[in-house]
Amino acid sequence: MTGGNLLTDHPALYEARFPAPERLAARWTEDCLRRHGAGPRVLDMGCGTGRDAAHLHGAGRTVTGADLSETMLAHARAHHPGPRYVRADLHGFDLGSFDAVVCLDSSLLYCHTNDQLDGFLASCRHALTPGGLLVAELRNGAYFLGRTDLLDRPAVDAFTWQGRTYRSRTTLTVDRTAQLLRRTRVWTTDDGSPPLPQHSAWRLLFPHELRHFLAAHGFEVLELHDGPGPRTEPPWQAGEPPGTTTDGDRLHLVARLHTH
Ligand SMILES: C[S@@+](CC[C@H](N)C(=O)[O-])C[C@H]1O[C@@H](n2cnc3c(N)ncnc32)[C@H](O)[C@@H]1O
Repeated sequence: MTGGNLLTDHPALYEARFPAPERLAARWTEDCLRRHGAGPRVLDMGCGTGRDAAHLHGAGRTVTGADLSETMLAHARAHHPGPRYVRADLHGFDLGSFDAVVCLDSSLLYCHTNDQLDGFLASCRHALTPGGLLVAELRNGAYFLGRTDLLDRPAVDAFTWQGRTYRSRTTLTVDRTAQLLRRTRVWTTDDGSPPLPQHSAWRLLFPHELRHFLAAHGFEVLELHDGPGPRTEPPWQAGEPPGTTTDGDRLHLVARLHTH
């Protein structure tokens, strides 16, 4: 195996590791957009392989998918056509005018610092028409208050792709000073390659902290809850209303940019 980020460097492997045959995240997003009467132009920030962007395109929206990874974007253009795909950094971007910005599977938490969060929300505000929506789905920092179940022992996983078996051992730790959840994932394969360690981190963002950032940038929170959502257990099903608590490990946000 070579260095870099195995999954973002190999988008097909990412899709094999995280199959989403029912496109639940995209369907949940489309449900939020419809329920709150969003216009057609959608920006998917941190679009990854483009699966969700392409589903939203198929639902009749005019979609731009943006990601920092050129490899992800090349895969998206080849395998999930329809949307326009562009390279952008969610810490600060200027990609035109939209009726909604969506940010799925914790992409928003790649804003590690307050300045990066401010940069993201200022860019969203600039991108959105008055009354435009921000729809996000992310880990809940508050889940880790008094709970260690995700921290106590490594998560071990294995899957086979193109005849080769990949094993991963994932350890999560809390960095209280940086307010980050740090992940170390060590990959091994059965082809004799040396183990490949990879490091990433997400901001540990708390629901009231998120509300404060949103208010400061001119957003009204319409929904903020821990499920049901596309990555909750049990997962969201069409027609289910939003929840009312923020205790679980995923947060679901719908916020509207004030019209004045
Ligand atoms: C966990 S994946 C989520 C992909 C997709 N939204 C999904 O739900 O399948 C996170 C994505 O964020 C991208 N990313 C990481 N940091 C970024 C940044 N600063 N700006 C834009 N994209 C970023 C990665 O390249 C990756 O494709």
